[in-house]
Parts: sequence; C-alpha cells; structure tokens
Amino acid sequence: APLLTEGDLWAVKGPDTLPRRPRTAHKGDFGKLFLLCGGVGFTGAPVFAARAAVRSGAGLVFLAVPNEIYPIVAVKCSEAMPFPIPDRYEELLSRAKGCDAAVIGPGLGADPAARELARRLLRDLPCPVVLDADGINALAGHIDILDTRSAPTLLTPHDGEFQRLTGCALPLEDRLSAARDFAAAHRCGLVLKGHATVTAATDGRAWVNVSGNPGMAKGGSGDVLSGIAAGLWGQRHLRSGPDDLWPLAAQAVAIHAACGDLCAREFGEYAMTPGDMIEALPKVFKSLE
Ligand code: APR
Ligand code: MG
Repeated sequence: APLLTEGDLWAVKGPDTLPRRPRTAHKGDFGKLFLLCGGVGFTGAPVFAARAAVRSGAGLVFLAVPNEIYPIVAVKCSEAMPFPIPDRYEELLSRAKGCDAAVIGPGLGADPAARELARRLLRDLPCPVVLDADGINALAGHIDILDTRSAPTLLTPHDGEFQRLTGCALPLEDRLSAARDFAAAHRCGLVLKGHATVTAATDGRAWVNVSGNPGMAKGGSGDVLSGIAAGLWGQRHLRSGPDDLWPLAAQAVAIHAACGDLCAREFGEYAMTPGDMIEALPKVFKSLE
C-alpha cells in the first residue's frame, strides 16, 4: 500500500488534487452537504464536522441536529446551516435527498431512535455517505444495509468502533489486511483510524497514512476528519478523472493529519485542540492550491 505523508499529499494527487475553482462558479458548484449529527451531551461533534466541511471548500452545509440541542448548535455554528430534525421523516429525507454528499454519525449518541434514524437515512440516501462514530455503531448488527446502497459509503471507525462492528479481536494483528478485507467484503470504503490510518478501497487499493501525531488523540479530532472527507466528496465532480472517491478519502486523511502536525508545531501536542485543526485547514489547503 502506498504510504501517505504530509510530504506526499501529492501521491494521491495526480494533476487535479485541488482543481481550480472556476471563476464563474457559484456555491451550487461546490456541493451541498447534509449532516446528521449531535445529541444531548454531544453539542461539539456536529459543529466540528460542519465547520471542517466548510473549511474544505463545500458550497452549502446543512446540519440536522436533534431539537433539544438545535439552539446551542445554531449559536455555535454560523458557517453551516443547522436545523432541527423534523418530526416527519419524509421531510428530513427530502431535504437530505437534494444533497451531493452526507455525514451521518458524529455525536449522535446511543439513543435507539437516533440510531434507527441513522440506519433509515443510510438506506434511503442516494448520495455518497460518510458514516462515522455512532453512525458506525448504529450499523452493528445491520451491516447488510451496506449491500442495499447504490452510492459509495465510507466508514471511518477507530479500532474500537471497528471491533464493535465486526466482532474482531483487539488489538488487530494486521490493520492493513483487516481494512482491505472489510472494504472488499462489504463494498464500501474504510478508513481505519489511529496512529497509522489505513484507507481501503473496494478494489484492493489501500493507502497508509503515517503522518499526524498523538496531539490528535482528543475528543473531536475524528469529527473534523468526517467533515473534510464529505467536503471533498461533495466537490468530486470538479475533477477530470473517473468518479473515484476512494483516493479522495485517503487525501482527506492526509490533509487532516497535516493539520494535526501544523498544530503540534505551533501549539504543541498537549495543548492543541480539534478546533485548532480546523483553523489549520486554510494553511494546508493553501499549500495544495
Ligand atoms: N497519531 C496520529 N493520529 C492520531 C493518534 C495518534 N497517536 N491518535 C488519534 N489520531 C487521529 C486518528 O487517526 C483520528 O483521525 O485522531 C482522530 C481521532 O478520531 P476518533 O478516534 O474518532 O476520536 P474522536 O474525535 O474522539 O471521536 C469523537 O466519536 O469515536 C467516537 O465515541 C467517540 O463520541 C466520540 C466521537
Ligand atoms: Mg470518532
């Protein structure tokens, strides 16, 4: 598997890693995103994911959060458009269906109704979906949903979430093979996160990211990654190549790690925060433009 480090973000890059934004472009050209995140006790995750998506170039970011936390999220996040999850499922689905990519899961919590909603949306959404955190936990025991999807799905578990989903033994002996096998078996992309992060595609390709640092081992870092990945996916049509989302997922991992490394240099591993990583996105993107 090719190694992915900050120095070779360009390894997955090809000529159009970060295509030029056409001068005549409008926001609709850069993807509408739909995020289903957050729950009581998890008011930060939706904001991290949404802000990271905006900082990754997304045109519009709609953020569906439970009614109870909607006012809090709305106050914290003016870059994205938070709204309370409507009571009627059909109403939520019709809003989500207009989008180019989605994130389901960060901060959703363990509430059975929230998990059922996550599964229902995953079944019904025609767009590419990044499934993270409690969205992955919601899939445990329902993994067959992945077979019913027509659009690409990317799962971004850490080892614990991967264990809950697959029942595998921890510590994983061979994380590269574990990720590859899972992606091939379930025809989804898999980002197996940790100190070395493996991105596996459905067709056997895999990328191993070895940049990043333990300053990123803090609640919220993962939410930033799901926002970056969905942000890039929503803009995939800007690329000239085939509609191939898996290298883009690996690139999101590398960009995320580069943010972590910038923060470690500037603030140190102890004090850096996931919010700092979002603030580092402009520097990393600028270096790729
Ligand atoms: N070296 C490099 N990168 C690291 C290291 C390390 N030592 N430790 C963590 N990271 C990176 C991972 O690769 C990943 O991208 O930081 C990110 C951590 O993501 P998560 O494990 O998802 O952690 P977190 O953001 O806390 O997740 C928030 O999701 O997992 C659930 O229950 C959890 O509610 C929580 C939410
Ligand atoms: Mg997480």
